Amino acid sequence: MNVVVIYESRSGNTKRAAELIASGVIRDGGSAAAYPSTAVDLAAVSQADLVVVGTWTDGLFFFGQRPGGSMRLWEMPEIHHKRAAVFCTYAKNPGNTVAKLAKLVEGKGATVIGGDSFHRNNLVEETDHFVNGLLALV
Ligand SMILES: Cc1cc2nc3c(=O)[nH]c(=O)nc-3n(C[C@H](O)[C@H](O)[C@H](O)COP(=O)(O)O)c2cc1C
Repeated sequence: MNVVVIYESRSGNTKRAAELIASGVIRDGGSAAAYPSTAVDLAAVSQADLVVVGTWTDGLFFFGQRPGGSMRLWEMPEIHHKRAAVFCTYAKNPGNTVAKLAKLVEGKGATVIGGDSFHRNNLVEETDHFVNGLLALV
């Protein structure tokens, strides 16, 4: 499986989650690379079997949660005819961030097949679980 992970990260947690997901796919024998949303490798995207898009939770902690940096995510390249999965990192409560991010990614042309949220203090375990779920799906 060839996976491209695109992330939006303000203080590094989501970048780390993206890199853990890429490493997990590689550990399983696939190929993967992670790119910030502002520097996506278009050739890599065109060859990917799955595009994973991740961001951080922005909101008022217990309400109004939404994908952080969504303006920049809207500016990333179109991903028509691609399967995609989404994730967010969070501190307290991600609310509907994953569902909102899925909608954004579908607006970029992809078919979203899964999504999850990862607590910022538990990235290793939760990204591992996410990768195993994705590998079972594709
Ligand atoms: C302005 C701001 C708003 C945030 N709002 C929420 C929130 O509503 N709920 C939550 O669980 N975490 C919230 N967080 C925490 C971040 O989503 C969390 O720390 C995330 O892992 C940061 O990812 P990053 O290091 O990739 O930027 C907020 C952080 C910031 C800076």
